[in-house]
Amino acid sequence: MSSPVIVLIGPMGVGKSTVGRLLAERLGVAYRDTDDDIVTAEGRAIADIFVDEGEPAFRAIEKRAVRAALTGHEGVLALGGGAILDADTRALLAGLRVVYLSMDVEEAVRRTGLGAARPLLAVNPRKQWRELMEARRHLYEEAATAVVPTDGRTPEEVTEAALDAL
Ligand code: S3P
Repeated sequence: MSSPVIVLIGPMGVGKSTVGRLLAERLGVAYRDTDDDIVTAEGRAIADIFVDEGEPAFRAIEKRAVRAALTGHEGVLALGGGAILDADTRALLAGLRVVYLSMDVEEAVRRTGLGAARPLLAVNPRKQWRELMEARRHLYEEAATAVVPTDGRTPEEVTEAALDAL
């Protein structure tokens, strides 16, 4: 069994994929993203899985993908924004270096736009965002070994801050 050198968590649109790739480059390791693993394994977009089968079915697929990545990847790993909702997943994170990329609601709405490709933000992004973060913020904070705010920072600056925080 192998473990990631860094796991990135945080809400959708915060820049986990962009920063994850930059971090992997800087550290000379591979980058992996559980959303990509799911899309590859399922052969369809995540939004389609939500529409076709609903969120609980997506979470079950996600849980398997996250477990596989957390136990079989040695580079930088980005988790989908909702992965930390699962208690078994949170337990698997214990003992790993987990960086929480955070942002405030206005930055979130700017970055995720109207959320057409984000099934959980499709109706009223600002309100849905607030509700989502109220339910999740403490889970991100508890799982993290470092918190890196991204507001007003470029991906390169966030990458530097994440490296400093390690
Ligand atoms: C989700 C985040 C998305 C994706 C799905 C659900 C969430 O991943 O897994 O749309 O519940 O926050 P990203 O955080 O990579 O956008």
